[in-house]
Amino acid sequence: MLKGKSIILGITGGIAAYKGAALCSKLVQAGAKVNVIMTESAAKFITPLTLQTLSRNPVHIDTFDERDPGVVSHIDLADHADLIVIAPATANAMAKLAGGHADDMLSTTLLAATCPILIAPAMNVHMYEHPAVVHNMELLASRGAMFVEPGTGQLACGYVAKGRLAEPEDIMAAIEAWFVRGGMLAGKRVLVTAGGTMERLDPVRYLTNDSSGKMGFAIAEAAQLMGADVTLVAGRTSVAPPAGVRLIRVESAQQMLDAVMDVFEESDIVVKSAAVADYRAVDISDQKLKKSGERLVLELERTTDILETLGKRKSRQFLVGFAAETEQVEHYAMDKLQRKNCDLIVANDVSREGAGFNGDTNIVQVFGAEGLIVSLPILSKREVANCLLELIAGRLASVEGTAHDS
Ligand code: CTP
Repeated sequence: MLKGKSIILGITGGIAAYKGAALCSKLVQAGAKVNVIMTESAAKFITPLTLQTLSRNPVHIDTFDERDPGVVSHIDLADHADLIVIAPATANAMAKLAGGHADDMLSTTLLAATCPILIAPAMNVHMYEHPAVVHNMELLASRGAMFVEPGTGQLACGYVAKGRLAEPEDIMAAIEAWFVRGGMLAGKRVLVTAGGTMERLDPVRYLTNDSSGKMGFAIAEAAQLMGADVTLVAGRTSVAPPAGVRLIRVESAQQMLDAVMDVFEESDIVVKSAAVADYRAVDISDQKLKKSGERLVLELERTTDILETLGKRKSRQFLVGFAAETEQVEHYAMDKLQRKNCDLIVANDVSREGAGFNGDTNIVQVFGAEGLIVSLPILSKREVANCLLELIAGRLASVEGTAHDS
């Protein structure tokens, strides 16, 4: 898949540098031509000889170590790269790129490069959450950098938290996805909703649901890797949102409606994977409710159905809804598709093992006006997101093709 592709692998100085070696090996096995650039700190964690042996190319560390008088190395490498992958990317490496610094071989090559950049950060969780790091990642994303989110687990510093470099397999999947699908949604504005809404009862209590936000986050991340400009409207979620997308946090169904309406007109594709409350409290108490009596009856009223509202309002937008069902999946999915005027409905039977809320996998069936389009096996939410977006991109391209023909 990567045959003939020229990839620069930037390895910076963190303990996860050793995973850079595994990634290098996988890239070479997949047929890519890999040039490794290490920072001096990276070379304290892993030897350049390891990377030279795996990449079968000289490893670059020093900008002034010019071995071929016929070229200027950092310009030559940058000019010939199809993609630059920085794995692991330290906070310092990202800060330098965000600030436009060029004080070593990697940072200098990055400034000279015009190809896309994929960044796989790895650091301590507090560093990862530091406003300066968050700001730098947002800045890089706004300039088009793509990210592979760090995983959660045991960190070298002793914490069990987010910050572990994504596994080499995951970084490979993101690289391959970019080469296969990158550009499929270039120029498209994608609006994704994720997570569950929170309907307040009083200042300390609320009604919500089990949605983790993982499915919506996977869709937002995949859309971004496919070249889209992504806005993510997220309610209550149990995992961190992907970097590189415009994030709007909301609580209630009403706030989600308002946020979605603000960007709907300018959107080309809208994927409504959020689990929106159908009812909210008629009265939201300003003060904490005091208990009284053995029973409490809450009076609830219907919220606005956001998807249905968008379905009535839509002009050119490609509208995708979700349907979480526990029975008669096809019947309810087709009913929602028609009632809410969607182009596609992604339905899952949340009573099945491996499907639905909170897990990392999903089992979905996608329906269009013609009925069932595809029934996917159990897949990771990332893979479901890729399949769904490929389907959307294909449908959109054929709609646009028809519009051009007529
Ligand atoms: N949805 C929405 N606004 C609501 C309720 C649901 O936009 N107030 C959207 C969801 O984001 C999802 C789709 O509608 O894309 C289907 O949600 P689901 O909860 O499965 O269906 P409901 O419309 O609530 O229907 P029912 O309760 O009959 O299953």
